[in-house]
Amino acid sequence: MRAENSVLTVKKMTKRFQGTTALKEVSMELFNQEILAIMGENGAGKSTLMKILSGLYPGSETEGSIFLHGEEVLFESPIDSENMGIAMIYQELNLELDLSVTENICLGRLPLNKVGLIDWQKAEVIAVEALERLNLTLDMAATVRNLSPSMQQLICIARALVRNPSILILDEPTSVLTSSETDMLMEIINHLKEQGMACIYISHKLDEVYKLCDRIVILRDGYYISQYLKQEGYDSERIIEDMIGRKLNVMYPSIEKTIGEEVLRIEELKVPHTSAYGKDIIEDVSFNLHRGEILGLCGLVGSGRSETINAIFGSIPRTNGKIIIEGKEVNINSTRDAMRNGVGLLTEDRKKNGFIGTMSISHNMTLTILEKIKKLFLIDRKKESEKARYFFEKLSIKAPGLETLISSLSGGNQQKVILSKWLLTDLKILMLDEPTRGIDVGSKSEIYKIINNLAKEGVSIIVISSEISELLAICDRFVVLGHGVVQTELSKEDASEMAILRASSNT
Ligand SMILES: Nc1ncnc2c1ncn2[C@@H]1O[C@H](COP(=O)(O)OP(=O)(O)OP(=O)(O)O)[C@@H](O)[C@H]1O
Ligand SMILES: [Mg+2]
Repeated sequence: MRAENSVLTVKKMTKRFQGTTALKEVSMELFNQEILAIMGENGAGKSTLMKILSGLYPGSETEGSIFLHGEEVLFESPIDSENMGIAMIYQELNLELDLSVTENICLGRLPLNKVGLIDWQKAEVIAVEALERLNLTLDMAATVRNLSPSMQQLICIARALVRNPSILILDEPTSVLTSSETDMLMEIINHLKEQGMACIYISHKLDEVYKLCDRIVILRDGYYISQYLKQEGYDSERIIEDMIGRKLNVMYPSIEKTIGEEVLRIEELKVPHTSAYGKDIIEDVSFNLHRGEILGLCGLVGSGRSETINAIFGSIPRTNGKIIIEGKEVNINSTRDAMRNGVGLLTEDRKKNGFIGTMSISHNMTLTILEKIKKLFLIDRKKESEKARYFFEKLSIKAPGLETLISSLSGGNQQKVILSKWLLTDLKILMLDEPTRGIDVGSKSEIYKIINNLAKEGVSIIVISSEISELLAICDRFVVLGHGVVQTELSKEDASEMAILRASSNT
């Protein structure tokens, strides 16, 4: 690739925040019709660099320069960057939750009619067309709040495409997408590339990046580290080493442990659909869980995996079903009941249920164990920070200190704090919905170690994950849901990606 093919050049970009320098003299280029991956650990500076390119962080508050097609540009706001043909899909969904699908897609550029009023008919046509490019049909008047996270993500993508950008930036677009939605997005990006667009793509999923991207640029601790070209073949070992600054010996640690007696039994669970009134997403589900066991709960999206564990946690109602813990039927009708019975849940929707942005890392981590560290009526701050420090270090959370506000952390580091909160509790039964979403490879392997250790200490664990290879490596047994019932149960020996997928899509 020659310099004259460059559509975007960044020179010596530095960005300082209070207490952190997120980018340190980073230079990079994006070429014509190229799909470029930016990779690196949580907190490496990926999103910061993209927010500078989208104008969210004004040029006057950075050191360094940006060139578009060889001309230097200065972005003071997202509008400047948008007008120059750059569209960005942020890591955090940025939709107006109380507005409709049409309004969100056309936000900021609603078409006007001759007398200067908003032309709603035209707006809807534009929005429908944008969704059609993504093979989607939706109720255009629906309020975005009521749509699933993956639908919301697709709406963000549709909104970006309406602008016909020449450069499209996607910051972890697939973390909430299903595998078929991901495949569709890849196809669309490849198609846009053929039509002349260039794209910057951020993801922690290596296989996705290898398949889609022509080149990989690696950042670490705010520095540019290296680049790799697809045509030379990607070498995972080197790429991971560049990202985490050391060799990653084992991705999936194995730990010797014994599985004990039955701890939890679910009988005839029935859970109503959260959106379709009068229908049940779970019709009749029974399974059990043993002491020290890690159970993988599998199934396609919409099979009711999350609903099952949310019903066990008391965060959504069930219309039927017994929950038996250590041989005794228990009454769980609220999350408080669940916690009192030793049951915890890391939810999938972290934004809604996950953390308090205005509180520090250590406060957020210890929210669930306040009772334990409470000394009379005061919180024992020393104990709080001891416990929090353990996970802060284990999961290498990137922040100036435990007192840093969680809202100033990178996406993946926020996830680590929320996960720590649950790993810190000593509950009997821990349910984890997508525990490694958005987390970098190095920390993922630490999380597997921690989950394994908890199981070894006798905690019983249920895991949901869209990464089947991850489940296969850490789970002792698998329950596959489909059509509201248990399709099959597989032992570790019988389980394989094929077996799980086949059982999941049993029609
Ligand atoms: N508003 C802010 N105030 C203070 N520090 C910040 C702010 N935004 C980001 N940072 C810090 O800058 C660094 C880089 O963050 P950035 O969000 O760019 O990471 P990232 O590579 O996108 O990580 P992830 O994979 O977790 O999304 C982190 O150490 C983060 O804590
Ligand atoms: Mg990020």
